[in-house]
Amino acid sequence: MDVWVNSSFCMSSIAVFLLLLVVSDYQAVVLLNGERIGEPSSSSSLSCDFFKGRWILDQSYPLYNPSSCPFIEHEFTCQKNGRPDQIYTKYRWQPNDCDLARFNGLDFFKRFRGKSIMFVGDSLSRNQWQSLTCMLHSAVPTAKYNVTRVDDVSIFEFTDYEVRVMLDRNVYLVDTVKEKIGRVLKLDSIMGGKLWKDIDMLIFNTWHWWNRRGPTQPWDYVEVGGQISKDIDRMFAFEKALITWAGWVDSNIDPAKSRVFFQGISPSHYNGSEWQEPRARSCVGQKEPLLGSTYPGGLPPALSVLKNVLSTIKKPVTLLDITNLSLLRKDGHPSIYGLGGRTGMDCSHWCLCGVPDTWNEILYNFII
Ligand SMILES: *[C@@H]1O[C@H](CO)[C@@H](O)[C@H](O)[C@H]1NC(C)=O
Ligand SMILES: *[C@@H]1O[C@H](CO)[C@@H](O)[C@H](O)[C@H]1NC(C)=O
Ligand SMILES: *[C@@H]1O[C@H](CO)[C@@H](O)[C@H](O)[C@H]1NC(C)=O
Repeated sequence: MDVWVNSSFCMSSIAVFLLLLVVSDYQAVVLLNGERIGEPSSSSSLSCDFFKGRWILDQSYPLYNPSSCPFIEHEFTCQKNGRPDQIYTKYRWQPNDCDLARFNGLDFFKRFRGKSIMFVGDSLSRNQWQSLTCMLHSAVPTAKYNVTRVDDVSIFEFTDYEVRVMLDRNVYLVDTVKEKIGRVLKLDSIMGGKLWKDIDMLIFNTWHWWNRRGPTQPWDYVEVGGQISKDIDRMFAFEKALITWAGWVDSNIDPAKSRVFFQGISPSHYNGSEWQEPRARSCVGQKEPLLGSTYPGGLPPALSVLKNVLSTIKKPVTLLDITNLSLLRKDGHPSIYGLGGRTGMDCSHWCLCGVPDTWNEILYNFII
């Protein structure tokens, strides 16, 4: 509780009382699962698992002021869109076994001078891409930059440092091809990979589009193993596509040149039963993360599919295993302060500044 006592935030006694209720409730859960909160582990920082830890309040966060990052897209600028609370921006991820190095933009520029970084995936990749460009821009606000777009690739170049931070929007990683019968999602084909060659650092992601159905599903047929069908088990399709992607990595990545990451499964928060608030039908009004390290709702099944495929890749690929730490952040989504405003309800993406800054801070810790 020290964290709360030290906090300079004024909280009404009611809020404190509610918070205590949440905390004691939570500890009961944690004990049931046989886990202990925040105990230092005996393992050294050399073997530190960055992804096992907890969120703690830190008044030196966020890493940047969103109003000084002019290029954040409307859908992520929660404060500008009217979100009144800001405590959610002041949490720092604290691994159990070590401390994370604070993100250092100047150091990042030095390491990547003349190099290129590319995020490949859906809007969760865009979320992380925007976060990284803001973190870099706010570290060196005078550094000149140039944003351009060529087809599906957005290129954010810090011209003084010759560092290119790119986003390839490619929601399935595998190809969707227009044919006579319609748009065919080809689970065995990955021609899109031609854009990823010779990039120095790649951060892939796919998941959120695999369950899309109806008018926003961007394909009419799905093809796998030479068979074309109208639909297919979506988890099976996700796995097949990942296997195709894994094959691409094994045949195309030169580990001496390129570092490969996979952004884990970014969780959504539409069902309060998962965090023991059954009346909550969405993330709206959530102002605090879950304390401790365990999410009562458990892990999304897609994560084990992803981990299984990653374990078959021969080339080195690092999983940014952000699922657990992000599950705890039911407070981190735009809710009604996102793209749709009051009529929307976004509990899938993340406010910026916010949770993706932590993903990038951990990414930074892998490369220093
Ligand atoms: C994530 O959480 C699950 C369930 O709470 C736990 O079994 C697993 O060890 C956690 N993984 C990490 C990397 O913390
Ligand atoms: C920005 O990049 C584009 C494409 O590389 C280039 O044509 C343009 O001159 C650049 N603008 C500036 C101001 O550097
Ligand atoms: C919400 O989560 C609970 C507990 O995990 C589950 O039993 C329930 O089916 C979920 N509800 C919906 C609408 O998905």
